[in-house]
Amino acid sequence: MPKCPMHSPPVADVLALGTVTSVGNCGGPQIPYRGGRIDATGPGASGVPAPDTDLATTLSFFANAGFNKVDSIKLTACGHTLGSVHHGGFPTVMDNSTVSPNNTQGAGHLDSTNAGFDIDVVEEYVSGTGQRGGPLVTSFNESSRSDLRLYESDNNTTMQSLAKGGTEGFFGTCVDLLGRMLNTVPANVRLTDVVEPMNIKPVNVTFDIDDTGTAILTGVIRYLTTATAPTSLTISAGSATQKTTALSAQGSSIFGITSFYPFTLAFPSTSSNDSLPASLTVISEASTSQTYALEPRLFFTPSLSSIVPTSTVNSSFVNIVAALAPSVSSPVAVIAFPTVQEGTLAPKMMHQNVTLEVVGTKAGYSLVGGNATLPTGLMRQLSVDIVTMVDGMEVVDAFNFVPQI
Ligand code: HEM
Repeated sequence: MPKCPMHSPPVADVLALGTVTSVGNCGGPQIPYRGGRIDATGPGASGVPAPDTDLATTLSFFANAGFNKVDSIKLTACGHTLGSVHHGGFPTVMDNSTVSPNNTQGAGHLDSTNAGFDIDVVEEYVSGTGQRGGPLVTSFNESSRSDLRLYESDNNTTMQSLAKGGTEGFFGTCVDLLGRMLNTVPANVRLTDVVEPMNIKPVNVTFDIDDTGTAILTGVIRYLTTATAPTSLTISAGSATQKTTALSAQGSSIFGITSFYPFTLAFPSTSSNDSLPASLTVISEASTSQTYALEPRLFFTPSLSSIVPTSTVNSSFVNIVAALAPSVSSPVAVIAFPTVQEGTLAPKMMHQNVTLEVVGTKAGYSLVGGNATLPTGLMRQLSVDIVTMVDGMEVVDAFNFVPQI
């Protein structure tokens, strides 16, 4: 049975997306995002350059990742436009005197606008103003001045040319180099084309069957725009239609403002719910319409499923129920769940297959169920795919969230 890797993205892709959104949200440029990384199954060579690493060794770390000296200077300047050096982790850069009631972490900002992705780190270094390039340039401890050694390694030519290029040039440089950093993958990995966000996106759309045997389709339409969002959207599937207005709470993103339109469509019971709709149509006020596929032949039933913490730390009990139309059989639930791994903050995504057995019938559907005890306490990040094969084709209801009890 396939594991549906498309439905539980690799942690490496999530980290890359985190970099793209952090840079954008801090006022920086949009770095085109590509997916398709494959998570490492073990550690690589350990270590990154430290403040007291000599220049040749520092450059060899960068060279191993495909960056020459000029690249290394530019990439470090792009990274060090954000954040600070902290006494706790780096006392040889920031001495005891940096800790005070107003600065309990002993933080020294890398530039004067440490929460903004901008050219200030370059300009302040070149002009000797503000943070003058930050603590890795100015540290009391000469051997900890790693940025100074790097920036001076070509007589400041690269830093001066970055300053001359202004914000536009700096942003272009950072898009190029941060993009290369994110997209450096093993030779056998093929990244996707650049992923653009969908303008209208159905979120958590799921069939369920209520106590009266009525099938219900619920979900939210997320509408992304840089202009004004429509007051209402019309959602229709099969014989059911609902005009729905936006929730007052909006989201913001580097791509624009997001508005959310919740909907509930009901399909009263029939003898065979093979007749449930196979598509959902969203019509906006401007009468543009978009259609999305639904999977009425098999679906996870949230109201009959649950996830329960167990008395053991880092362990959860998951009870999964799905509904099957008469035309499909032998489904498996594939649970994707994160586990903590030693030596890194990144969780490891694990998959466990659960065989589903018939447990009843409802509204013309067979109900199938199964359960598993999983070695994770990170329950909110768990998702379930219900998968089977029909005529050699995979049929899947992917990426379902299990209600927590
Ligand atoms: C020459 C190589 C480098 C050295 C020796 C170095 C060293 C450091 C050190 C010691 C800190 C302070 C961390 C803390 O106290 O929390 C820091 C912060 C940071 N570095 Fe680097 N770095 C290097 C290159 C890079 C590169 C290439 C990037 C990204 C492209 C980068 C991005 C950052 C960011 C964003 C912070 C701020 C972290 C925070 O505020 O929590 N650095 N770096």
